[in-house]
Amino acid sequence: MECFSSHGNWPDPGQPRTFSPSSTVNESLDRVEQTTTGEKLQPTETADSEFTESHCGELVARYEKQSREPRLSWTTHLRLLRKLGEGGQGIVYLAERPGADNFTLPVALKFFSPERYKRPEDYDLDMVRVGNVAAMVARIQHDNLLLVQNYLDRERIRVMIMEWVEGFDLRRLLTPKMFTVMQERFSQKRWQHLNQVLVTAGPEQPRFKAGVAVAIVRNCLNALGALHRHGIVHADIKPANIMLKASGQAKIIDIGSAFQLNDPPKRRSITPAYAAVEVLQGEETTALSDLASLGYVLVELLSGQTLFSAEQDAGKLLFAKREIFQLLPDILPEEVVRNDLLMSFIQGLVAPNPVDRFQSAESAVVVEDGAAAFQRQLIKGDLASEYENDIRVWIEELLEMEIKGQL
Ligand SMILES: Nc1ncnc2c1ncn2[C@@H]1O[C@H](COP(=O)(O)OP(=O)(O)OP(=O)(O)O)[C@@H](O)[C@H]1O
Ligand SMILES: [Mg+2]
Repeated sequence: MECFSSHGNWPDPGQPRTFSPSSTVNESLDRVEQTTTGEKLQPTETADSEFTESHCGELVARYEKQSREPRLSWTTHLRLLRKLGEGGQGIVYLAERPGADNFTLPVALKFFSPERYKRPEDYDLDMVRVGNVAAMVARIQHDNLLLVQNYLDRERIRVMIMEWVEGFDLRRLLTPKMFTVMQERFSQKRWQHLNQVLVTAGPEQPRFKAGVAVAIVRNCLNALGALHRHGIVHADIKPANIMLKASGQAKIIDIGSAFQLNDPPKRRSITPAYAAVEVLQGEETTALSDLASLGYVLVELLSGQTLFSAEQDAGKLLFAKREIFQLLPDILPEEVVRNDLLMSFIQGLVAPNPVDRFQSAESAVVVEDGAAAFQRQLIKGDLASEYENDIRVWIEELLEMEIKGQL
């Protein structure tokens, strides 16, 4: 059968076309008015006769000058709106960057505090590490990883400008207060659904249902995989550094402790409760150390209790982490312990010896006892819910409560 085009002489879409992209920005504009096959097009017609008799000569000249300038020295302003959080490294604000014609861009600003450094030079040195990692993360642009937009030095104080992640970090979501507020504010029907599918009461704090916890951890593994492929370890995976977004996705934030594997810092700050065994022992921190930390987060999400936070004694903390396989059946809910696949996934993350862990973030997702296999099992057993959607609706409800000042 022959096909006829009703558009006259359009090039056949099945045929290869010659296309020569403009090589420099300074090329004359009439290049733009060529088709991909090279033929000249008529200038775009417009019904607005005022436009054709343009009085914008001066404006056009300015446009032409600006759009060809190789260097633009523009000043931008930022308005701080409210504090988003504060931690060991500094303080984070929500800010807005006003643009033209009522446009404003919300951004998050992190001021890195020099307080915990002995000398200003130590701060500078550490901030160079952060700057290098930030530059790499800015390029990675992974959906489950914080987007870095800029890193500035203002009178020697370093400031990171990043995307504002609208949502809640897991530490905040897991507070008993959050649970009480939800219980009080949600309708009984909604609360029952949430309890069945997403989050329910744990011994110390709320606990997540297995499907949700694994969905969150899988997102984090994807982000870690991207970091590790670029030779970066995060080195501070913990609930406060993972956010659940209004989109239903989880995102790893806070790259303030991250470093390049081929250039490890001499001085490191760690969060002992979530640090892998080898890190606590003062040995090398590797990509597999991030997996162990994420594993501890998973156990906390599933069990509804902080496992090691109360353990101040370094010796006891190490002992507990080395013995974690023995502890798991007592800590985790029965439905988790009974699921061999899930237990094997957890063990592959938290194994005390790195050689017994999954050997990469990617393999933790795809191997036969990985996150994806568990999620497939849920689907087969008809136990899968639309987790991303459920999380999205839940986070949106919480954000609405926050706006009303109820949280
Ligand atoms: N881009 C962001 N968007 C929204 N909230 C954020 C963002 N970055 C940080 N926060 C909030 O601020 C809190 C503290 O930020 P961050 O973890 O970067 O600080 P920190 O000083 O490095 O903390 P710590 O060293 O204790 O991990 C986070 O737990 C989170 O609640
Ligand atoms: Mg943090």
